[in-house]
Amino acid sequence: MQSVSSKILYNEEVLPRYFRLGLQWKTPAIVPGHFLMVRVSGSLDPLLRRPFGVYKVLGSKWKSVFRGTGVELLYQVVGRGTKILSEKRAGESVDILGPLGNGFPDPERKQNPIMIAGGMGIVPLRLLAEKLKRGVVLFGARGSSEAGIVKGFRGLGCRVKVATEDGSIGRRGLVTGLLKEEITPDSPDSVVYACGPVGMLKEAARIAQAEGVKCHVSLERSMACGIGVCLGCAVKTRAREEFKRYKMVCSDGPVFDSKEIDWEAL
Ligand SMILES: Cc1cc2nc3c(=O)[nH]c(=O)nc-3n(C[C@H](O)[C@H](O)[C@H](O)COP(=O)(O)OP(=O)(O)OC[C@H]3O[C@@H](n4cnc5c(N)ncnc54)[C@H](O)[C@@H]3O)c2cc1C
Ligand code: FES
Repeated sequence: MQSVSSKILYNEEVLPRYFRLGLQWKTPAIVPGHFLMVRVSGSLDPLLRRPFGVYKVLGSKWKSVFRGTGVELLYQVVGRGTKILSEKRAGESVDILGPLGNGFPDPERKQNPIMIAGGMGIVPLRLLAEKLKRGVVLFGARGSSEAGIVKGFRGLGCRVKVATEDGSIGRRGLVTGLLKEEITPDSPDSVVYACGPVGMLKEAARIAQAEGVKCHVSLERSMACGIGVCLGCAVKTRAREEFKRYKMVCSDGPVFDSKEIDWEAL
């Protein structure tokens, strides 16, 4: 893990309120699912860093992990911190802390990876799709504009299917409907990787479990420190032993076996 000042290479609005941010950084080893804590302001306001997944590794040299000369983040402006970040210009710098978290485990060689995301949950799955170069990416978006995010994914070597709430592109309805079609008794060797809103993760976990398929979920919680110190991102697990019952999303996760999570408590 490094704490560095990183130069902004670009910070472009790719869709209304969606930005891609290129950061210069001689990256340590990055695995899909890692995230960074970004200080969006040089002052103490806002005080806390904001967490963002790694979307791409720039100038990447592929071995068993990604290493490169920078990273690209993809973020949506939802509040004060992301608004301040969106106003940064190329040439300015931001402090980053990372890479953080555990990342997604590799599938077994025979397993068919099914990657399912809702909204910004697509971020960590892009790097995973780039690494695996097989399987399918299922993306749930509000409409055709947001669905544009996965335009370039086909070039990564996986199939891509989209579901939109308004039916403007792909299947009308929830992305978990697509998951039901992908996990069939004919495909028992699947493994699910999911990231997105809690409701989607919960349903993906339920579907996978009903078919006896392993499901890895990447959770999002509000994070103050990102390194397991503040205990602000605790999530309840199903562990019997009390001392194992709460895990930190930032340092034990953000990726968990879906069976570990107490979904009723989320
Ligand atoms: C591990 C991790 C990876 C993430 N990766 C990305 C990413 O790649 N791209 C991206 O756009 N966003 C990502 N997020 C969410 C992002 O961190 C928040 O959107 C951001 O911190 C909001 O900051 P803000 O100051 O703009 O909003 P705030 O003013 O703090 O909050 C505005 C709204 O956003 C909600 N919000 C704030 N933080 C979170 C959070 N952590 N999760 C869900 N909702 C939140 C608040 O409840 C509120 O409704 C990630 C979160 C985590 C925990
Ligand atoms: S964000 Fe502080 S412990 Fe996880």
